[in-house]
Amino acid sequence: MIKLVVVFCFLALFALSYADIQADKLFELLKSKRSRDSDVPNTWAILDEATHEYSPVYVAPQDGLSQLDKISALPGQPAGVDINQYSGYVTVNPTAGRALFYYLVESPTDSATKPLVLWLNGGPGCSSLIGAFSELGPFRTNSDGKTLFMNDYAWSNVANMLFLESPAGVGFSYSNTTSDYDHSGDKNTAADAYVFLVNWLERFPQYKTRDFYITGESYAGHYVPQLAYTILLNNKKTNQTTINIKGIAIGNAWIDDNTNLKGLYDHWWTHALNSDETHDGIQKYCNFTGGSLSLMCRNVTDKAWDEIGDIDLYNIYAPICLTPNQRNTSIIPGSINNFDPCWQYILEFYLNDSMVQNALHVKPTSWDLCSDVITSWNDSAVTILPIIKYLIENGQRLWVFSGDIDGRVPITSSRYSINALDLPIETAWRPWYLNKEVGGYLEGYKGLLLITVRGAGHTVPSYQPERALALFSSFLGGILPPSS
Ligand SMILES: *[C@@H]1O[C@H](CO)[C@@H](O)[C@H](O)[C@H]1NC(C)=O
Ligand SMILES: *[C@@H]1O[C@H](CO)[C@@H](O)[C@H](O)[C@H]1NC(C)=O
Ligand SMILES: *[C@@H]1O[C@H](CO)[C@@H](O)[C@H](O)[C@H]1NC(C)=O
Ligand SMILES: *[C@@H]1O[C@H](CO)[C@@H](O)[C@H](O)[C@H]1NC(C)=O
Ligand SMILES: *[C@@H]1O[C@H](CO)[C@@H](O)[C@H](O)[C@H]1NC(C)=O
Ligand SMILES: *[C@@H]1O[C@H](CO)[C@@H](O)[C@H](O)[C@H]1NC(C)=O
Ligand SMILES: *[C@@H]1O[C@H](CO)[C@@H](O)[C@H](O)[C@H]1NC(C)=O
Repeated sequence: MIKLVVVFCFLALFALSYADIQADKLFELLKSKRSRDSDVPNTWAILDEATHEYSPVYVAPQDGLSQLDKISALPGQPAGVDINQYSGYVTVNPTAGRALFYYLVESPTDSATKPLVLWLNGGPGCSSLIGAFSELGPFRTNSDGKTLFMNDYAWSNVANMLFLESPAGVGFSYSNTTSDYDHSGDKNTAADAYVFLVNWLERFPQYKTRDFYITGESYAGHYVPQLAYTILLNNKKTNQTTINIKGIAIGNAWIDDNTNLKGLYDHWWTHALNSDETHDGIQKYCNFTGGSLSLMCRNVTDKAWDEIGDIDLYNIYAPICLTPNQRNTSIIPGSINNFDPCWQYILEFYLNDSMVQNALHVKPTSWDLCSDVITSWNDSAVTILPIIKYLIENGQRLWVFSGDIDGRVPITSSRYSINALDLPIETAWRPWYLNKEVGGYLEGYKGLLLITVRGAGHTVPSYQPERALALFSSFLGGILPPSS
């Protein structure tokens, strides 16, 4: 009982001004994990590979369905825009009546020669349409919540972008067997996303042999490597390249419970958000490696949260949203270089609109950034590092990127996690450039690239769209961004 109260207090603290964003869901999860007395077992043992037989997945005929999914135009989209967009449901379990929603944006030029890239937001339980309409998609929402403006730095300039709302219970994705929501966790999320992909490729067979990459941020630091791992394992077990996966890129990604919390508090202290006293207390009382946190540690980390004040932790230098739920009805065209701090309310308003939902081919849904129906998370691997190692060993391109002014899953956390892998350094730490300015820094390890984006928050493309696109293009090309 007491433990529950402790957990709840943390939530209440966050809920005040930052309700419903992906990393808050992550912290809910962490608090509940940490409040358990025992270690949560790592359910993603690599040994699965040797011991488990391939069990065929559900595949349904998809002929003709892609044309039904074609979006003629999104309400409020700028006139004269000619982009191929598709969206709809893909059933992943017909018995339960479980279906996942996707949104595909094809590249406007030479789509057929460009790779297919899946984007996943985190949470757990938050929608990848955050990525589509507030980060890297072709459109962003204006502050009226009704109209859209163009993103000149859309990732669809260089790839065919597929956004998936995952797992069921998030956004438009649903299950007719609502008890499915109580079984949400890392394992089921990866399993369903895999079935989704296999069926989606039946619906869009032109992508079957296309180079495929998975990208994402935040808690997708779990989803992305786990799905990549699932794909590789199934390719091996079936002796065929069912999905032609080439690599992954994860941003401000939660990949290791043991190092990430330490990295969080170190970032706060070095960015003048916390006192020396609190930082010393954390050093003294907190052991973030496994197990539950001591009472003294909880006391001092509570203090760390108190000291921060009401800032946007997702970008510690950004303005906060002072007028939530109050859309600006005078249509001021949005600017790609000026990210609206009230974006979450605007996006909810837009995607909750029945005309928009009609255009997206979904049934009427009360759309939320993060799921209300997923209230617990069954399994969350303590660390993703073994999977990352596996992906490296199996020749996958692996980039870990980080907006360096994110205080939620900060660059320090990413660095500590990568350090724990103990990989040899191949390219020494150096700046990378765009338009004669430092875009960020990078360090090349054997099999993995760490790359920062200067002046970007948690949702990197929201704050630094041009740098984010430069990074993404380099990733797809398998080349490092320029050193001068
Ligand atoms: C869920 O139930 C509705 C209503 O019966 C049905 O139209 C829909 O196809 C079902 N969804 C799935 C994925 O089976
Ligand atoms: C939680 O995950 C474990 C490990 O995958 C599984 O054995 C168990 O059945 C799951 N429980 C629920 C409620 O989904
Ligand atoms: C894959 O190849 C291995 C070795 O040749 C064979 O034992 C196995 O049965 C094959 N699996 C499938 C699904 O064809
Ligand atoms: C932290 O806790 C872990 C797991 O309980 C333990 O192995 C480790 O020795 C502890 N570290 C310190 C510095 O006490
Ligand atoms: C931490 O403990 C001190 C001393 O027991 C107490 O005064 C303080 O209120 C506690 N702080 C928090 C945030 O719980
Ligand atoms: C709407 O935008 C105008 C012009 O930028 C600004 O003056 C006004 O304060 C905004 N209103 C709200 C409610 O944010
Ligand atoms: C979305 O729409 C539904 C029904 O139209 C409404 O009940 C709900 O409050 C709306 N949600 C938001 C966030 O506006």
